[in-house]
Amino acid sequence: MSKEWWKSSARGIPEIKTPLPGPRSNELSQKTSRYFKGLSSQVKLFPVCFAEGHGITLTDVDGNRYLDFSSGIYVTSLGHCHPKISEAVAHWAKTLMNCHDFSTPVKEKLVEKVAQVLPGNLNGMQLYSDGTTAVEAALRAARVITGKHEFISCFRDFHGKTLGAVSCARMARGGVLSYAPTRAPGFYMVPRPDPYRPLFTCADGTIDTDAYIDFYREFILEGTAGNVAAFVLEPAQGWAGSIFPPDDFFPKLKKLCDELGILLLDDEILAGMGRTGELLCLQHWNTLPDIVTFGKSFGNGFPVTAMIVKEEYAEALEQISASSSYGGNPMACAAALASLEVIEEEDILQNTQEVGAYLMQRMQKMQQEHPIVGHVKGKGLLLGIELVKDKGTKEPFDRAGELVYQKAFASGLAWIPAGHILRMSPPLIIDTHHAGMGLDIIEEAIASVEKEFGY
Ligand SMILES: Cc1ncc(COP(=O)(O)O)c(C=O)c1O
Repeated sequence: MSKEWWKSSARGIPEIKTPLPGPRSNELSQKTSRYFKGLSSQVKLFPVCFAEGHGITLTDVDGNRYLDFSSGIYVTSLGHCHPKISEAVAHWAKTLMNCHDFSTPVKEKLVEKVAQVLPGNLNGMQLYSDGTTAVEAALRAARVITGKHEFISCFRDFHGKTLGAVSCARMARGGVLSYAPTRAPGFYMVPRPDPYRPLFTCADGTIDTDAYIDFYREFILEGTAGNVAAFVLEPAQGWAGSIFPPDDFFPKLKKLCDELGILLLDDEILAGMGRTGELLCLQHWNTLPDIVTFGKSFGNGFPVTAMIVKEEYAEALEQISASSSYGGNPMACAAALASLEVIEEEDILQNTQEVGAYLMQRMQKMQQEHPIVGHVKGKGLLLGIELVKDKGTKEPFDRAGELVYQKAFASGLAWIPAGHILRMSPPLIIDTHHAGMGLDIIEEAIASVEKEFGY
């Protein structure tokens, strides 16, 4: 199959035929939200109703065609309805949908493939159907492996919405205590180096990663019961707005973890599967985790996730009652296997690096030229633009973030807001032409908002 399979459906996008959201979108969104509650801010800010997706193109119920810059929230990274993946799922949908955790030919192929493509000896695994369940299983595995029960995660991390996962993140969102009256016992959070907003700096003002590591060491001694099983981390913080730590952070953290007998639990649900130009994001820093979670784009839209541990820890999975009703069903395995094959067959990692470098160089220019673009960041196609009211004070400009999101969407760019940070995660199959087109739309929206606020 040609790598260009998505190009014919992308011809002429974005194509806007009605004011957006269109009349049918409005009608169906309103009817849906009569019963379907708890919508995300991205839907509330732009209530469109989608009918079809193909490659990098999304079509709404009014026939408007959008350029996809979110990959269905980091999920459909290889393009909507990739023919190879859709066919693989369809085959098993007609052959065998579920048989609990018995082996199937496609599961056997998938687990071999995962063990082969991951670095090191990450090869003991279990499969699930959402990210948060994989994270819970990873937490349980870490407890069994170490015999310890506490966890440390980092400010601005996000790991899912079940009890253990929410205990690794901020309790309140948007001013609402969304997750629990309190985090589960034994879960702690610490600051992590954000190059644009460092807490610990050297005398010359540069970020001081050693100070973060020293703080963790002290915190573990003073603030925990000395029973930390794992550091739970996103290699790049996605929900927080594509925040990458300095290059020396993860190697130093892994060294600390090894010294203290703490596992590094690497949640690659958002940043893995090639999103940053490496299969595992942590590979950018030559750091090998002890436990990894995969999700979102693992099945390119079919719900399938994984929790994988190093070979020496694989037996621990016998003790966590690891299986689930849907995890590893044949359709799920087929989707994940086909996705891993597409990454190789279509040189996805290389494309991601090339298109990402092109966008980054353009974003750096935008940072110089636009008064409200405070910071640009990213690796591969996990990118972010931070909007500020003033480059000196770095005060977050949330209202500008909302307006830029809505204006760009109204011009035909389907994407994701995150307060004052503009998040971009286009499909990894995209070429520089279409990626540049998306950034043009964003830049126009930024310029229009700057004008509106009198910059
Ligand atoms: C890093 C990370 N971990 C876990 C999750 C939870 O995944 P799911 O929504 O599939 O439960 C997410 C979802 O956004 C995520 O970004």
